[in-house]
Amino acid sequence: MEPTDKGRGGELDVLLHTEQTFPPPKGFAERAIANDPSIYERANADPEAWWSSWAEKLEWAEPFSQVLDWSDPPRAKWFVGGKLNASVNCLDRHVAAGAGDRVAFHWEAENADDLGAEGRRGVTYAELLDMTQRFANVLRSVGVGKGDVVGIYLPMLPEAVAAMLGCARIGAIHNVVFGGFSAESVRERMEFSDAKLLVTADATLRRGEPIPMKPAVDGILTALPKVEHCVVVDRCGTKPAMTEGRDLFWHEALAEAEPVCEPEQMDSEDPLYILYTSGSTGKPKGILHTTGGYLTGVTATHRLVFDLKDDDVYWCGADIGWVTGHSYIVYGPLANGATSVIYEGAPNYPAEDRWWEIIERYGVSIFYTAPTAIRACMKWGDEHPEKHDLSSLRLLGSVGEPINPRAWLWYREVIGGGRCPIVDTWWQTETGAIMISPLPGLTTTKPGSATIPFPGIEAKILDSEGEEIEEGAGILVLTRPWPSMARDLYKESDRFIETYWDRYGRDTYLVGDAARRDEDGYFWIVGRIDDVINVSGHRLSTMEVESTLVSNPKVAEAAVIGIPDEMTGQAIVAFCIPQGSGEGLEGELREYVAEKIGKLARPKRIVICDDLPKTRSGKIMRRLLRDIAAGEHLGDVTTLRDPDVVQDVVRRFADQGD
Ligand code: PRX
Repeated sequence: MEPTDKGRGGELDVLLHTEQTFPPPKGFAERAIANDPSIYERANADPEAWWSSWAEKLEWAEPFSQVLDWSDPPRAKWFVGGKLNASVNCLDRHVAAGAGDRVAFHWEAENADDLGAEGRRGVTYAELLDMTQRFANVLRSVGVGKGDVVGIYLPMLPEAVAAMLGCARIGAIHNVVFGGFSAESVRERMEFSDAKLLVTADATLRRGEPIPMKPAVDGILTALPKVEHCVVVDRCGTKPAMTEGRDLFWHEALAEAEPVCEPEQMDSEDPLYILYTSGSTGKPKGILHTTGGYLTGVTATHRLVFDLKDDDVYWCGADIGWVTGHSYIVYGPLANGATSVIYEGAPNYPAEDRWWEIIERYGVSIFYTAPTAIRACMKWGDEHPEKHDLSSLRLLGSVGEPINPRAWLWYREVIGGGRCPIVDTWWQTETGAIMISPLPGLTTTKPGSATIPFPGIEAKILDSEGEEIEEGAGILVLTRPWPSMARDLYKESDRFIETYWDRYGRDTYLVGDAARRDEDGYFWIVGRIDDVINVSGHRLSTMEVESTLVSNPKVAEAAVIGIPDEMTGQAIVAFCIPQGSGEGLEGELREYVAEKIGKLARPKRIVICDDLPKTRSGKIMRRLLRDIAAGEHLGDVTTLRDPDVVQDVVRRFADQGD
């Protein structure tokens, strides 16, 4: 299905075929924070001085004595000897500077119109600090302290931000799980990380309906003896069952808590958080970020990539449960003292113009979202944004997956009115902060390219031997340490080295993406080189979905691949050999995966087959399955254990697609 860009299609097609480039608009460039091109030379000539200049903008309880210790790569130490607290940097210092009444977040409930004043809350820096300190005291009162892990499984609420910062205040390590993941995924992540406490909500509102969270969590808490307490935010008033002594309501506990909480002064290299993301195996990886370097990286990138000024109203539409939410809803914007929007619900609820209504209401000037969402809006039609005054917008951002030029151009024309630069930002959970992106006042953009590395970052494309490819396609690597780099995989240090630092040496970070570099040195991300599928900007491992499928007694074997999809970038197709009759199994298995992992992992198609193409040694040939799904010529299949299987799978794929 082609997304329609009603009304503007002809215009966009012309642009597409001219391969037009877009220099920064003159007025924008003149006023931009980064408007001197020598910033790149200066940063790259002395990256340590560059990063140090950003670190110095933070408030340190004890200054650092060394910018970088890279004597034992890939074990980086940034801002050695420095001590600081992330919540102090995000809150206290702004309040102390007189910005207590400044709005940190305009929170918009999904059912804002039904809730009256409560449905649209302006949470000031002083209020967020109060909530954070009280929650931090609640944590301390139940015995959570420095180095303990706290799980957070919440909808998009200001409480989610306060929960994260409350952990940071006392040196507890937060482990946020996206609210759309299943309880089973929460259980796995809490167990891997030995979490001591879990914060959740009674329910989350989705398209007007409360979807229970606490009741689902109850089912896993019994299997998690190390989780001693569960704090419950009462979002929907659904009166969940509360276990005496274990469960506390957020509002009751905070009301009773002391309002002041002394911050724990953390070493620059003390952990700030872990965030699980999918890797090539079935087991999610716990990416570990530390305090000083991470805060420095997100502060610098958020300020310069988004050209953030005092009067901006910034809105990142991601969920707090992903790294984009951590870096560009919570830590970057708050460290920079920004005023942001947090919207709780679906973009098309109650109607397809909800996002544009929000932009108009709050006068949003910087808007950051994912290509999959842009494509959905494009499909819904221009009439929705056209109903609203979007003239407050001055900058647009994209993240999470390659943006196709057609969506890029639509975003620019229809949402940005042709006047807003677009920053296509490439980065990862592991990089912590944006690595490749335009600087909007300096970089000429090309639709579909994330352009060039951020000042101080060095990216290269290598061939399989490790030789650099100056122009052409290959494997993307980062060849210099940067402050917000992941320090480890939680409790899996060997896996950290094997996954990222073995292929080309201990000082070359293997990103896991293939990319192309063009004649101007611009980077174009091609896709993953591992068994990771990117569905709507969310990373999922094929192995994770496969092992879930085979955990169903009706499935004997499963092979999962990603196929291109107009709307979601990639979509999941699972080929399954049933245990017994496969009759009517497709729908059941799709729901099974959605329930076990979360809706985002629900396969688009399940293809039931008698057998799968395998090598003589019994390895499933996923490449062949991808060719079958793409309708490609299959080439020589005689090396397979049973070449006849291929035709059967081709036929099943075609038949079951109807
Ligand atoms: O493949 C790249 C893709 O998303 C991966 C990182 O996923 P995650 O850790 O979940 O973080 C997503 C948000 C930062 C990358 O390895 N990716 C991310 N941004 C882009 C992208 N691909 C192309 N263009 C981007 N702007």
